[in-house]
Amino acid sequence: MIQKVKPSDSLQGTLSPPPDKSISQRAAIFSLLHEGTSVIKNYSSAQDPQSSLECVEALGAEVKRNKDSISIKGTGRSGIKAPEDDLDCGNSGTAMRLLAGVIAGSGKQVRMCGDASLTTRTMTRIIEPLEKMGAYILARNSAYAPLMITREEKLKPMDFELPIPSAQLKSCILLAGLFGETPTKVIETIPSRDHTERLLQLKVEEEKGKKIISASLNDEIPNQSYTVPGDFSAAAFWLVAGCIIPNSEITLEATGLNPTRNALLGILQEMGANITIENERMEGAEPVGDIVVRSSDLRAINIPKSIIPNCIDELPILAVAMSFAEGISVISGAEELRHKETDRIMAISEMLKAARVSFEEKEDGVEIHGNPEFAFDSATFKSFHDHRIAMASAILSLKGKSESEILDAECAAVSYPGFWEDLKEISIYG
Ligand code: S3P
Repeated sequence: MIQKVKPSDSLQGTLSPPPDKSISQRAAIFSLLHEGTSVIKNYSSAQDPQSSLECVEALGAEVKRNKDSISIKGTGRSGIKAPEDDLDCGNSGTAMRLLAGVIAGSGKQVRMCGDASLTTRTMTRIIEPLEKMGAYILARNSAYAPLMITREEKLKPMDFELPIPSAQLKSCILLAGLFGETPTKVIETIPSRDHTERLLQLKVEEEKGKKIISASLNDEIPNQSYTVPGDFSAAAFWLVAGCIIPNSEITLEATGLNPTRNALLGILQEMGANITIENERMEGAEPVGDIVVRSSDLRAINIPKSIIPNCIDELPILAVAMSFAEGISVISGAEELRHKETDRIMAISEMLKAARVSFEEKEDGVEIHGNPEFAFDSATFKSFHDHRIAMASAILSLKGKSESEILDAECAAVSYPGFWEDLKEISIYG
């Protein structure tokens, strides 16, 4: 699908961002491990969470899709079944990496597959530690899905210092650890999103600036009945749009405010953004609030490696904000972006190039020469079938002088099925 986007003079309105993708997927997977029935409200209808839901169903959970909620009757750790067919994770790295931990822990033999993008993403980061725990994993070219996972030996709990700050890797090892008689400890030096620890109520200790998270068979799996918060990573597109489009005011209701996810808020505020938070509260284990953003004059900023994991999914849209911020902005230490749904450093560079933004691509990030007065005529943006690149390009298109187009724009539905409708709803044209 080619999506045309007209420039907009003003953005006005109130939106509820779609349900959080990371939390929805965890809600489904952790409900499988829980022995009772969890009732989850506001479960995401986006493609990735739906892939996770179908996977947990294939592994033995009983899923009922009600009007306002889904209920999942779990199998518990001991009741997981090996599906007859391949377990299809679609486009979702989170589904594949987290469920690989569950499968390795369960000792069932399962073959996991995914779409063209997922089968080009390295799985080495989970294969090596899961094999150390006693799993046997057959992977294409030793690194890529399809993955055939089995375990004949007894599960070997371990202490594991994360070699990369990845919440998917952390969660994968903790989920396998939940099947071990003694604790598996994951040691984290750079904090990544902590939804797994929160929602499973795992033991977390701090030692010399490191976080040590433990998981074993002795940990009860809590019931996962809660309302999934709005997705901060989806709200991020409107936060930047609200800043860079004049005469704008957007309210984003019930948006997740987990501090390990929302570094973009602080970054934009440091850049000069007019953002306020109202009505802060807890939704289950997760903080939420309503965010109000108004048009702002932005200035350049440098993003250091230490906060990259807390804004990793927001970097494509941050690059758009930087294009309109006074001065030179730098994102560095973000090589992980090259291993996302597409090589996102390449994809960000192609997006900026299409709009003729002045920038330099680096191996581990990008340097952007921003200008508040920057304008371009129109552009054709490639999404590279990556939802976040499609949506970031759409926000950039709002600043064109005439209509731009985004190719393969349907991929926005991987995380945000209503994105194009929401964009129309708040855009005011001159
Ligand atoms: C996710 C973790 C991040 C993020 C992804 C979702 C999760 O990946 O980019 O979109 O739900 O745990 P990494 O943990 O691999 O950085």
